[in-house]
Amino acid sequence: MDITIKKVKYLPELRRVAELADEIWHECFTDIISLGQIDYMVERFQYLDAMIRQIEEQSYTYLSVYDGGDLCGYIAVKPEQDDRFFLSKLYLRVDKRGQGIARLMLERVFEEARKHGKSSVYLTVNKHNDRAIAVYKRTGFTVTDSVVTDIGGGYVMDDYIFTYVL
Ligand SMILES: CC(C)(COP(=O)(O)OP(=O)(O)OC[C@H]1O[C@@H](n2cnc3c(N)ncnc32)[C@H](O)[C@@H]1OP(=O)(O)O)[C@@H](O)C(=O)NCCC(=O)NCCS
Repeated sequence: MDITIKKVKYLPELRRVAELADEIWHECFTDIISLGQIDYMVERFQYLDAMIRQIEEQSYTYLSVYDGGDLCGYIAVKPEQDDRFFLSKLYLRVDKRGQGIARLMLERVFEEARKHGKSSVYLTVNKHNDRAIAVYKRTGFTVTDSVVTDIGGGYVMDDYIFTYVL
């Protein structure tokens, strides 16, 4: 294993991250939400133009995860106006799970948050996403709230909010 995590700076790499996002979302959420909702959420949040808007207008940073030369995961983060850092996305292709890469990804998130002078990292996770919930708990995140968000199209996100105090 030869893991590199780096900021996505150029459009061709962001395009490849969008393709990977499409693949991972259609694999990992099939037991949790409907195919219609997956398609809707990918289009709304993970199409290339949506990701460009997040970076240009909402201060998001995308980080790509490589094993050797293989793009196998990605992270999206955003500093809030207050002392919190938002972990918006943490995704690893299925064949790379269970190998400790998530811990490296989360350490990088904490490092970015500290660089921004933040005191905590928070995220939202679907209440039925058992694996991700187990990973966050194992890493030291705790549930601080739960929230149902109307995302349009007749869909809602039914999430826990997890927080990690730096
Ligand atoms: C979330 C995700 C990035 C985590 O990566 P992963 O490779 O599955 O995580 P790991 O197997 O490295 O597990 C990380 C830690 O959690 C622990 N863990 C994993 N599954 C666990 C479980 N079911 N119960 C208890 N602990 C568990 C691991 O033992 C590990 O702890 P350690 O480092 O002390 O050994 C990955 O599962 C993923 O991409 N899932 C699909 C997308 C997704 O749901 N993203 C999150 C959206 S909010």
